[in-house]
Amino acid sequence: MYVRLMHEEDIDQVTRIDREVFPALWPPVNYKHELQNRLAHYIVISNEEPITREPKAEPPSGLPRLLARAGQLLHYSRLSTRQTAPAKREYIIGFGGFWLVADEAHIISLAVRQTHQKRGIGELLLIATIELATQLDARIITLEVRASNTPALSLYYKYGFTQVGIRHGYYTDNKEDAILMTANNIASASFQARLQQLKKSHSKRWRVASYQITP
Ligand SMILES: CC(C)(COP(=O)(O)OP(=O)(O)OC[C@H]1O[C@@H](n2cnc3c(N)ncnc32)[C@H](O)[C@@H]1OP(=O)(O)O)[C@@H](O)C(=O)NCCC(=O)NCCS
Repeated sequence: MYVRLMHEEDIDQVTRIDREVFPALWPPVNYKHELQNRLAHYIVISNEEPITREPKAEPPSGLPRLLARAGQLLHYSRLSTRQTAPAKREYIIGFGGFWLVADEAHIISLAVRQTHQKRGIGELLLIATIELATQLDARIITLEVRASNTPALSLYYKYGFTQVGIRHGYYTDNKEDAILMTANNIASASFQARLQQLKKSHSKRWRVASYQITP
């Protein structure tokens, strides 16, 4: 698995995941605008090698070299051999993001493809989100979540978030309440120690190698 910042090329896949897991959200989040928003910070997790630019083919030797050279001279591009397999498509399996305003990171979304849920990916996203927020000097993380969203509530409780309020009838599709949650003092030694402990057991359980959030 690869953890990195979201890029513009990811928007199609991210939007599809967003529609799949938040079908009632209207209007849907415009990730193109989000990526242009300087307050917004998004990460994705993929399970393929990131698409790499095709390396330049090694110059062939012997007869192939002569043929390739002849091809170049004749502008016959088919002869200037392409020796690498096409780059793999990177498959995004989850993403998350927050807005950072002063020292508060407000989680906008955290989502895992339905086919990949319950395999530790949501947890990895939350760990990476907290780590990124900490690196960006956030001191508090806030979010709202549907009262019936047991998986998300359970994940947030596991990572030390506490319920700080309720917005009654917040969700317009079914008038469901939103639970407001926060994690305070995320830079404190106690919060970070607990985070590292949870990260260690997550890595062990799901065999996640150490990672860095790559740009
Ligand atoms: C919430 C969500 C991100 C969790 O992702 P996931 O990859 O399935 O979760 P993980 O496998 O990493 O599980 C991590 C923790 O989440 C909680 N969890 C996940 N699925 C759960 C379920 N079906 N029931 C109860 N708790 C669950 C548990 O606390 C779990 O820790 P544990 O395995 O030690 O019990 C995922 O269900 C999702 O994308 N849901 C739809 C979008 C959404 O609701 N996002 C949150 C909006 S605020």
